[in-house]
Amino acid sequence: MSNKNKTEISRVTRSKKDAKASYNTMSKWYDVIAGRFEKKYRDIGLQKLNTKGGDVVLEIGFGTGECILALARSVGISGKVYGIDISESMCNITQSKIKKEGLSEIVELTCGDAVKLPFKVDFFDAIFMSFTLELFDTPEIPTVLNECYRVLRNDGHICVVAMSKKGDNSLMMRLYEWLHKKLPKYFDCRPIFVQDALQSTGFQILDAVKLSMFGLAVEIVRGKKK
Ligand SMILES: C[S@@+](CC[C@H](N)C(=O)[O-])C[C@H]1O[C@@H](n2cnc3c(N)ncnc32)[C@H](O)[C@@H]1O
Repeated sequence: MSNKNKTEISRVTRSKKDAKASYNTMSKWYDVIAGRFEKKYRDIGLQKLNTKGGDVVLEIGFGTGECILALARSVGISGKVYGIDISESMCNITQSKIKKEGLSEIVELTCGDAVKLPFKVDFFDAIFMSFTLELFDTPEIPTVLNECYRVLRNDGHICVVAMSKKGDNSLMMRLYEWLHKKLPKYFDCRPIFVQDALQSTGFQILDAVKLSMFGLAVEIVRGKKK
């Protein structure tokens, strides 16, 4: 593995239109396949974010809404949870779960691209993102995190769960990157440097762990707006 390969993340070459289309298709079976394997890591992230009654929270790329439901229960009726996701089908599935669980008054969803967040400065107490930051192309990662920084209040917390390239030189990781390069529409995510990206945005790192998911590294990082 060359040094460049160790320090540079792969580019995301599929278009936003392709991202929308593939997540619209995937939404039907997401809970059964990917969602099930990723649950353990999402739950650790939620635990670390530790939202409480009355908090105003944002989830970016909420998918089929499992974390949005948990966040809504944690903030209760005195709080509010906002979500943004690019896929209309993910939005529809999540909206119907929210309605079924009687959480409509607490949750508000937007269907759109998170590179521009439709929220005011200093609006949120906390932001959550799981298996989503690694879907943005390299120049967009700082854009999304700068947007998070803008909408988070001072001392507000962010927790990001994502596939990680940090210190991971494994065969699995190289195979995954190869698949990402060859089949960009189907393997649109790729390992990134999560803690470094948060630090470069200006977040103070409060907690960072690296775990393994089928031989692929996952970073769970909590930061604070200074
Ligand atoms: C891999 S799924 C993860 C879903 C969920 N967070 C979870 O952990 O189960 C990524 C989600 O991000 C959404 N997404 C992809 N690109 C996005 C973008 N540019 N803006 C907002 N959401 C996006 C997809 O539609 C999908 O629902």
